[in-house]
Amino acid sequence: MKPRRALLFMPGDDRHKIEKGAALGVDAIIMDLEDGVALSRKQAARETIAAALQAVDFGQTERLIRINPPVGGGLYVADLEATAPYRPDGYVLPKVESAQQLRDVSQRLEQFESRFRWPEGTIKLLALIETARGVVNLREIAESDDRLVALIFGAEDLAADLGAIRTPDGWEVFYGRSAVVIHARANGIQPIDTIYPHLQNRTGLESETEQALYMGFTGKLAIHPQQVEVIQAVFTPSAEDVARAQHMIAAFRTHQAAGEGVFVFDGKMIDMPMIRAAEVVLARARTAGTLDV
Ligand code: COA
Ligand code: MG
Repeated sequence: MKPRRALLFMPGDDRHKIEKGAALGVDAIIMDLEDGVALSRKQAARETIAAALQAVDFGQTERLIRINPPVGGGLYVADLEATAPYRPDGYVLPKVESAQQLRDVSQRLEQFESRFRWPEGTIKLLALIETARGVVNLREIAESDDRLVALIFGAEDLAADLGAIRTPDGWEVFYGRSAVVIHARANGIQPIDTIYPHLQNRTGLESETEQALYMGFTGKLAIHPQQVEVIQAVFTPSAEDVARAQHMIAAFRTHQAAGEGVFVFDGKMIDMPMIRAAEVVLARARTAGTLDV
């Protein structure tokens, strides 16, 4: 699986921020055409993104574009027309509420792929779940299309849609946050957590990101370069985590061979669920590129 630990947003009409994001070593950047861009700047942003895709060296960083919501008569068709010919790696679709919306965008991308003779299905989709209807329809959304590689949870828009008030603990949006993980995992795609808007609060970002990791998320949105390092570190298992997981799995194999399904490791009972969790740690390390085998 492609690493998507931190995904850094920037307004699509800001070439300086796009260049800055491209040089950070972040797993993905999301060049925005939706709410981070004023209505009067949409066309300028499309052109800026198209030019950047042709000229900027993004290295290993995945190049994603957030278009406007895929609803009838919306701006999103022009967003796709102006940017798809320059072959981004994928699109982030905001305020997704139905499988049909994903299929509609997917079919449009298929036309670009066939027009330019690119392999079919290579442009990926990531769906933002950030409305009550999006949460309610998670099942059909998560199953909708082969291009879909991730579900992203959007807490700020969801809170507004619910008439909720944001609090530091986030219990007002917890059901939606948790549902995104469950539906993504049920369909073998990545769950990605919401932004953390307090730019100066590094400890707050760290603990919210750890909470996301503990819930099963594979990554988190970032809105400032300073957040990238914190987020990517949390989603990269430490050398000690990896060694511990490897030892536990080795001990499990030895006990299995001796006909024992359950055993004690470091004073704790270990059986199959703990071994599966240890495998997840190794999978995270492989995705992050810190473990080869
Ligand atoms: N991506 C890339 N570079 C960024 C960045 C981002 N998201 N946010 C800030 N930078 C750059 C700035 O351009 C500046 O570069 P410089 O030192 O070369 O001039 C440097 O990082 C420091 O930025 P700073 O002065 O701390 O922030 P700011 O006041 O310029 O910008 C925000 C603050 C919130 C406007 C900015 O971080 C931002 O645009 N974030 C993303 C917003 C967004 O996309 N929202 C939509 C999705 S929620
Ligand atoms: Mg939003």
